[in-house]
Amino acid sequence: MMDKQYLIVGNWKMNKTPSQSSAFVQTLIPEVETGNFVEGLSLAICPPFTALDCVAELLKDSKIALGAQNLCAAVEGAFTGEISAAMLRDLRVSYVIIGHSERRTIFQESDALIHQKVKIAQAHGLTPILCVGETLEEREAGRAQAVVQRQITLALESITDPRCVIAYEPVWAIGTGKTATVDIAQAMHAFIRGLLTEQFGKDGSDMHILYGGSMKVNNAAELLAQPDITGGLIGGASLIAEDFIGIAQCAR
Ligand code: PGA
Repeated sequence: MMDKQYLIVGNWKMNKTPSQSSAFVQTLIPEVETGNFVEGLSLAICPPFTALDCVAELLKDSKIALGAQNLCAAVEGAFTGEISAAMLRDLRVSYVIIGHSERRTIFQESDALIHQKVKIAQAHGLTPILCVGETLEEREAGRAQAVVQRQITLALESITDPRCVIAYEPVWAIGTGKTATVDIAQAMHAFIRGLLTEQFGKDGSDMHILYGGSMKVNNAAELLAQPDITGGLIGGASLIAEDFIGIAQCAR
């Protein structure tokens, strides 16, 4: 059996200017080089758009991959303020976060729009990190699985390319310091694994399913030890090099 593969992704959100990003990455790279990581662990960071260029340059010879936090659902044209998949590819971006709960709620992104973004990302060789997750109200109403199933089914409708990462981020756990219990997280990840194997067959069992929502150094090890949790999408804790590395070191 192939050893478990891990992917740890930092989502910086709207934090760090280009100069702060460069300084941060310059401290992160040597730590990663000497970080004593397991085989099969991949790392990626997703800075704001404005820092992608300088961070791409710094990451050129490192093992850390670059991700963006969003992209436009259209190819090009009159979309003032938007960033296209081709623009990201040109900056050597490999991953793109799509459908983060902050995009769904604050910017009213619909399942249909998220589906378009997944398609356009894959068509340009970017790996989507599709975020799904229920609100507290939905969980308390017993609708957590139904919500996640709807989000995944609509976002991945007619998608056949398994190069896609899912991030399960219960909305009530994001930035709140309140993590899902290991049992809640594993149960949802197993449910998602079932949906992926239904759609992608054998490839579905190798797709990454990351946990996101207040993953920290003190809870990462037990979350990452669960059979269907193959990594993390880290917000707050990814802004501190030591914490991000500490979480990555929990992937065993
Ligand atoms: P958090 O954010 O780790 O700060 O909870 C995770 C995310 O929103 O991706």
